[in-house]
Amino acid sequence: MRPTVAAFPAARFRRVRKSDAMRRLTCEITLTTNDLIWPIFLREGTGVVEPVPSMPDVNRLSVDKAVEAARAAADLGIPAICLFPYTEPSLKTEACEEAWNPDNLSNRATRAIKAAVPDIAVMTDIALDPYNANGHDGIVRNGEVINDESVEALVKMALAQAEAGADILGPSDMMDGRIGAMRTALEAAGHPNVAILSYAAKYASAFYGPFRDAVGASGALKGDKATYQMNAANSNEALRLIERDLLEGADMVMVKPGLPYLDICHRVKSTFGVPTYAYQVSGEYAMQMAAAQNGWVDGDKVMLESLLAFKRAGCDGILTYYAPRVARMLAGG
Ligand code: PBG
Repeated sequence: MRPTVAAFPAARFRRVRKSDAMRRLTCEITLTTNDLIWPIFLREGTGVVEPVPSMPDVNRLSVDKAVEAARAAADLGIPAICLFPYTEPSLKTEACEEAWNPDNLSNRATRAIKAAVPDIAVMTDIALDPYNANGHDGIVRNGEVINDESVEALVKMALAQAEAGADILGPSDMMDGRIGAMRTALEAAGHPNVAILSYAAKYASAFYGPFRDAVGASGALKGDKATYQMNAANSNEALRLIERDLLEGADMVMVKPGLPYLDICHRVKSTFGVPTYAYQVSGEYAMQMAAAQNGWVDGDKVMLESLLAFKRAGCDGILTYYAPRVARMLAGG
């Protein structure tokens, strides 16, 4: 659509900005609590609330505390929570068997949350990095991340998560062919209604640093993830990946990281018109929180402005560590 603009003084844009009432009336985009997915970190134990040093106000929670967090999120109207386990180093192996253990930390948390707070949607992460002695998202052999064998492992992981009661599976591994393999396996195993939110356009990014500390993967990671995550220089490739994952059976798609990739969010939504999400990742959150804690920016305003930007770019929702804080603010608290 080409905007029509009358010549000055017929057009004076400040007329519609002159009061709060006029600004509200001409507002194009709104952010609501329905747009939020809250990522939380899990760890073993009971009664554990352990701060993540590089992510102010973010904690690792034991399962009982994660259930409390899920209840608080549901009470705030947040539709979905996303689980990321911190795995004990002793459980990390080269074959990553803990990833599909029906009783691993993530699956126990999913069961406990679905039993106590059935109304909140539980999203899980599918990638081998928390369980991998190499810190990679796939199986490593002779220094190489092996695609097809990784997909077999990821399918087992997906089935265990669906069995535990996950509503949304989030494959964040970027192996080729995993969405189709998971979709076929889910149908065959009697899980036709489990949704897949594919991390379809996930970039090899330095903005994931604090997350890798939070899940304890930084120490293990050898090398980088450039052979499977995307090159920051590429945009057309993102559209091909999104289309591929949709054709393989993804219900929803994600762009990640968020703010540095808003152009990708916009292209994805305007090209495909499908449910599109962005992940405002740990590094984005850490930078904003650090600046706010130093008094260099207004933390509340920066939070709201950054989340609104995702909506303006066309996203249907945002995975954000700010979820409970912004939900409280939107509720007027
Ligand atoms: C694991 C995974 C990562 C994130 C989500 N799932 C890290 C990575 O790919 O190294 C990052 C989330 C964040 O930084 O907040 N596959």
